[in-house]
Amino acid sequence: MSFENIEVVVDNKVGLITIDRPKFLNALNSQTINELSACIDEFESNADVRVIVITGQGEKAFVAGADIKEFINFNKEQGKELSRKGQELLFNKVNDLSKPVIAAINGFALGGGLELALSCHIRMASENAKLGLPELSLGLIPGYGGTQRLMQIIGKGKALELILSSNMISAEEGEKHGLINHVFSSEDLLVATLKLANKIAGNSAIAISKSLKAMQIGSDVSKGLDAEIELFGDCFGTEDFKEGTAAFLEKRKPNFK
Ligand code: CAA
Repeated sequence: MSFENIEVVVDNKVGLITIDRPKFLNALNSQTINELSACIDEFESNADVRVIVITGQGEKAFVAGADIKEFINFNKEQGKELSRKGQELLFNKVNDLSKPVIAAINGFALGGGLELALSCHIRMASENAKLGLPELSLGLIPGYGGTQRLMQIIGKGKALELILSSNMISAEEGEKHGLINHVFSSEDLLVATLKLANKIAGNSAIAISKSLKAMQIGSDVSKGLDAEIELFGDCFGTEDFKEGTAAFLEKRKPNFK
């Protein structure tokens, strides 16, 4: 497999994916989502891969969100399609996979970046990681599953606080709320994540896939995800969306009327 925006290594039954657009803080443009989707498909059918780890290139970011520059001129329908395609190609695919996926969060995990980590089954983070769903500051809502999966993992009250305020939290605070399983120094993050991945890879692949399936069925949020697609798309028809995304490009605070 050869890709432009991701690096892939398979070693000792673990497939390691590194999202590689550090200049843009590894933001998820459509090409990166397509490449991740193709790689996950390949790993799903590759018997040499028992566990998947996803991380980001560089020391600053895991993923700073969906690529804002790519959707700045989108209308409502295009907004809905962005959300629907992303959920199908990547976020639901990761969530529903028969092999465990671990996020090694090495910096900013914002918007679609945190949503990717939320789709993963386990989240490890470095001490410098910053986590949040800042979509409301762009005049949007989370569109890659964040309204459903954050609430499931940390509870409705804290999820509402994070989504409505657009606040970022540290890895340490994330660990307190069960969002992050373990926090490590930046140097130790990948080693510790791979160690856990190897431990899991030593268990029965059949039993792993069956426990994942049971938990996926028990935590089905498909109705909420469908609603999220519609409501995310609706935001693209608003003045707030134009102001929020213009403010991001101009590196200033938005002025919502
Ligand atoms: N999309 C596109 N480009 C992005 C990006 C994103 N999500 N995040 C960062 N970048 C780009 C910046 O535009 C910048 O590019 P230029 O050098 O060409 O200006 C480069 O990456 C470096 O970023 P900054 O200069 O902004 O770095 P900073 O250290 O000053 O700030 C940050 C870091 C706080 C993470 C800031 O980059 C930021 O706020 N990023 C956006 C976070 C965000 O809002 N994410 C949600 C996206 S919407 C979404 O994900 C929708 C969905 O649910 C489907």
